[in-house]
Amino acid sequence: MKTFWSIFRIAVIAVISLYLIEKLSGVAEGEWAIIQHPVLILVWLGIALFMTAIEVSIASLRRLLFHTLSDEAKVKYLAAEEIRNEKFTGRFKKLYHRLVDSKPVEKEGEILLDHDYDGIKELDNNLPPWWLYGFYISILFAIIYMLRFHVFDGKQQDEEYQMEMAKAALEIEEYKKNAKDLVDASTVVVLTDPADLNTGKSVFETTCAACHRADGGGGIGPNLTDDYWIMGGDIRDIFTVISEGGRPGKGMIAWKNDLSPLQIAQTASYITTLYGTNPADAKDPEGELYVKDGDSGEQATDTETIDSAESESVSEVEQ
Ligand code: HEC
Repeated sequence: MKTFWSIFRIAVIAVISLYLIEKLSGVAEGEWAIIQHPVLILVWLGIALFMTAIEVSIASLRRLLFHTLSDEAKVKYLAAEEIRNEKFTGRFKKLYHRLVDSKPVEKEGEILLDHDYDGIKELDNNLPPWWLYGFYISILFAIIYMLRFHVFDGKQQDEEYQMEMAKAALEIEEYKKNAKDLVDASTVVVLTDPADLNTGKSVFETTCAACHRADGGGGIGPNLTDDYWIMGGDIRDIFTVISEGGRPGKGMIAWKNDLSPLQIAQTASYITTLYGTNPADAKDPEGELYVKDGDSGEQATDTETIDSAESESVSEVEQ
């Protein structure tokens, strides 16, 4: 009995100290501190060893003291210990009997029913209380459940599900707002916040203006203010060119190592604001006419621009 409790105490302390080591080490959730820092295993083993040493010393001290007792006192001591153990196990036994409530074998005669099938006899035991109370509790549960969900209109599972989905959708929205850097070419949209456009402008003027001119009119790189785009004029296309670069050998490198996804989105958005600014002596259009998809109103003005672009080149030839 004593050895059992010693081992029990050592085990409890070991578990608690492992828990504290994991909690206090500040390692990210889901990681094991003792795996990331194996020294901690030594610390933990040290604690367990220390506990074991204490338990062993106490046990031998007890034994030593026991031997110093007189014979009479020894008998008394053992008897007292016996009573203590009895009390402890007695409590469990009592609880067990109360929960099972079966007749001991020697008293089974009292509850034997009088039918007998080929030697198979039946006892009339009380229903085991653990089972009976479980049954009562389930009845109570059923009543409360029925009242709550079918009489007083508690939330049904599917409603709860819908509510949680709606809440999650809001949280995702919120998260996306705070995580602008998560954009890529498939999710990018034109940013309209002046702060974003300002950052885009300063990136453009410091990094891109050398080839595209500060006003976007074009130089080594194409004109970014007109309707003609080599790589496509949609915000997603512009994002892709900036991130991945233009056609090989043309001079437009991939900027994804120098600019964050957010900066690329900001710069791309800034470029869309240059559209139609008609800067003085801009570069001639290059690439194909870009028409915003699904917008026939735009198309009309686009066609006009082709005409004017064509007439411009005609007038240039004339000159
Ligand atoms: C070294 C010169 C150079 C620099 C610097 C440069 N570009 Fe370019 N850019 C080019 C060239 C050349 C092209 C044409 C690529 C092609 O023809 O494939 C181009 C193409 C583009 C296009 C596509 C235009 C179209 O018609 O489809 C965009 C958008 C663009 N650049 C944006 C930027 C941005 C934003 C920066 C700054 C982060 C930048 N560029 C920096 C030279 C440059």
